[in-house]
Amino acid sequence: MPDFVHQPVLLAEVLEALKPQPGGRYADGTLGGAGHAAALLAASSPTGWVYGCDRDADAVAAAQTRLAEFAGRFELWRGNFSELADWVPPGSCDGVLLDLGVSSPQLDTAGRGFSFLHDGPLDMRMDRQQSLTAADLVNTASAEELARIFWELADERDSRRLARAIVCDREQHPFKTTRQLAELIERISPRHGRRAHPATKVFQALRLAVNDELGSLKRGLDGALRLLRSGGRLAVITFHSIEDRMVKEFGRARARDYTYPGGTDVPELRVPRTPELSLVTRKAIQPNALEVEQNPRSRSAQLRVMEKL
Ligand SMILES: C[S@@+](CC[C@H](N)C(=O)[O-])C[C@H]1O[C@@H](n2cnc3c(N)ncnc32)[C@H](O)[C@@H]1O
Repeated sequence: MPDFVHQPVLLAEVLEALKPQPGGRYADGTLGGAGHAAALLAASSPTGWVYGCDRDADAVAAAQTRLAEFAGRFELWRGNFSELADWVPPGSCDGVLLDLGVSSPQLDTAGRGFSFLHDGPLDMRMDRQQSLTAADLVNTASAEELARIFWELADERDSRRLARAIVCDREQHPFKTTRQLAELIERISPRHGRRAHPATKVFQALRLAVNDELGSLKRGLDGALRLLRSGGRLAVITFHSIEDRMVKEFGRARARDYTYPGGTDVPELRVPRTPELSLVTRKAIQPNALEVEQNPRSRSAQLRVMEKL
C-alpha cells in the first residue's frame, strides 16, 4: 500500500477536550491515518485503551501499522461508526472522537475517484464493499433527484441545469470517470473568476450521497452517546455546514430538560425530561491561523465537544 499520510486536524484541541488519562477508554470512529488515535494512546500511556473504526479497509490496515508501538492497547474494526454501539460496550468509554469527511489519501488517490483534480473511476465509496458508486448514482438517478442532491447537500446554484445536462449526456456516453464529469461541469457552469473549481460542490454532494454521510452522522451521534460513561466526552469535527448544524442541534436538544412534539418548540406543549449531556463548547472551535497555513485542508474544520451527564 502507498504511504498513508493524513495530518490530524485540531489535534491539541481534541486532546484538551478528551483529556486522555492512563486507564481511560476511548473510541475513535474515524481512524483515517490514526493520527488522533496515536495521540490518544500516547497521552493515556501506559494503560489507556482505544477502540478504532473506519469504513475504509485501507485506513484500518494503515492504522494497524501506525499503532503497532501501542500493541495490546487497542482493537480495530472495519465498519461504520453508526454501528459502534454494536461492538463497543455501552457506557464503557471516557471519550469518543468522530473526525468526519475524507482523509488525504482518499482524496489524493486517483483510483478512489473522490477528486476532480485527478482522473480516475467515478467511485467515491469509503467502503469498497458497498455496491453503490458515484457512477451508479450519476448514470441512474433522475434529473430531479440529482438536482435535489446538488442543491440540498452543496447549495449548488446551477443544480437543475447541471442535472439536466448529466441526464442528456449520459444517454450517449455513460459517466465512467471523474474527468468526464468535471469536464461537463466546466462546460455548463464555467469558472468565471470564481476561486473554487466549478466541480467542487457537485463532487462534495455526490460523495455525501454515495456514502450516506448525513444518515451515518445522525445514527452515529446517538450511538456515541450510548458508548460514554457518565462524565465521558464526545468530540466531533465537521468540515461541512450541514454536518456542523446537525451536531449543534443534537447537542442542544440533548442538553435541554424538556422535549416537544413536532418540529416547533411551543412552551405549553413541553414535556419535562432529564438532560443527557452538557455542552462543553457553546461555539465551535476552529483551527488557528498557523494550523490553516500549515494544513490548508483544516480551514473548514469545526470542533464541538459535549459531556455525558
Ligand atoms: C478526516 S479522516 C480521519 C482522520 C483521522 N482522525 C486521523 O487522525 O488521521 C475521516 C475518516 O473517516 C472515515 N469515515 C467517514 N465516515 C465514516 C463512517 N460513517 N464510519 C466509519 N468511518 C468513516 C473515512 O473513511 C476517513 O478515513
